Amino acid sequence: MYARALENEFAREVRAGLTRPGQKTLPCHYLYDDVGSALFEAITYLPEYGLTRADARVIQAHAGDLLECLPPNIVTAELGSGTGTKTRAILERLQQRQTVTYFPIDVSEVALEKCAQDLGPLGSVFPIAASYLDGLREVAAGRADGQTLLVLFLGSTIGNFEPEAATDFLYGIRSCLQPGDALLLGTDLVKSVELLRAAYDDPTGVTAAFNLNLLARINRELDADFDLRQFEHVIRYDAPLQRIEMHLRSRVYQSVCIRAAELNVDFVPNETIFTEACHKFRPEQICAMARTAGFRMEAQWTDLEWPFAESLLVVV
Ligand code: AVI
Repeated sequence: MYARALENEFAREVRAGLTRPGQKTLPCHYLYDDVGSALFEAITYLPEYGLTRADARVIQAHAGDLLECLPPNIVTAELGSGTGTKTRAILERLQQRQTVTYFPIDVSEVALEKCAQDLGPLGSVFPIAASYLDGLREVAAGRADGQTLLVLFLGSTIGNFEPEAATDFLYGIRSCLQPGDALLLGTDLVKSVELLRAAYDDPTGVTAAFNLNLLARINRELDADFDLRQFEHVIRYDAPLQRIEMHLRSRVYQSVCIRAAELNVDFVPNETIFTEACHKFRPEQICAMARTAGFRMEAQWTDLEWPFAESLLVVV
């Protein structure tokens, strides 16, 4: 029988994930609509979620060391910049030795506008509303002779990729670059399961709201009838894979209709939808991943309060 192709990509991906044999899934990048992005921002302030503060601390402490490792005439591009808050420390240091040219790349135009407003006084800021690699290709295509590109990929977003996809993505970055260009990669490190459980299942329920908002978004955008009170946020730690998994667990037998995806989907009690994987790394794994993707590790700085690494990778 001929199946009509769904025009809406979100609807297509939701349909594919929820009809997958075995574990139902939803792609984690759909967690970040306006509500989800605001909830994620709130997560970064939670006392239990040390990741963002650790990232900022390492950058603040080592921005000078980072620039000492790089040649003159740097152009900076940031993948998933958001409002660029953590990057200020690097640009301020850079401003002491050259004029600043900064390309924040993000899909959120609201975040880019704020970024340009906040960091504009430090130099020339050229926001690019695009996906990570499309944006980076645009920056690379416009580079002048003698410039070195410094790409920032902070916040351990690389941890939300499956391992093979993470290496492929680093290779994708590398393919836009020239030998001598650099990537500053932020990665959350392996730590105690207790810390991770508290960080991803906080007692105030902000992370639960962030996760459940994915179903609310499907209701809003795909004309669906998920009853959010019949699902709960659960996390699992997979020790061999070194990752926290976020799931939404059905409390009861239920059937959900997602009209824009032309789908009725049934859930049995305790069945889950896998919504996000948050991988944690060992320092040597970052080295190996970088090498496979065509980089060498130039330097690595870590935070001891909340194990987190900032790795400076240079294209070989
Ligand atoms: C964006 N990313 C690095 C976050 C993380 O920790 O993996 C997303 C997140 N999910 C739940 N809390 C935070």
